[in-house]
Amino acid sequence: MNKDTSRTTPEPILLSDALKTFEALWSPRIVTRVNDYDVRISKVRGEHVWHVHEDTDEFFLVLDGELAIRLRGTDGERTVTLARGAVFVVPRGTWHKPSAADGASVLFFEPSGTPSVGDRHDAIPGHVDATTGHELGS
Ligand code: NI
Repeated sequence: MNKDTSRTTPEPILLSDALKTFEALWSPRIVTRVNDYDVRISKVRGEHVWHVHEDTDEFFLVLDGELAIRLRGTDGERTVTLARGAVFVVPRGTWHKPSAADGASVLFFEPSGTPSVGDRHDAIPGHVDATTGHELGS
């Protein structure tokens, strides 16, 4: 059993406060960790990039605004729309492209080290941060 407590946080974190600590879009911050997973939050607006996580599902919870996720299936593409408070999981191996025309705040739950642009992706536009998540406050 790993007794290292440095990965977790000693005090409660109000997500609304955490969201005020950064402005960068599509640039997730790691709020805390659960076992081998990160809890990340991100502010988003406009389009992300088509990408795929080959080995992990990706959990989304919309904290504010509305998020659309374009999904590429074997029988074509579809879009799921997540209102504030909605959760959705993009299955591993599924190409997807999140977008938020009017902006949104999103919480992600995924294994630590998961690249925000997946294992494979289209050309990364300049407004998208390719990262495994930044520490909160950085
Ligand atoms: Ni993804």
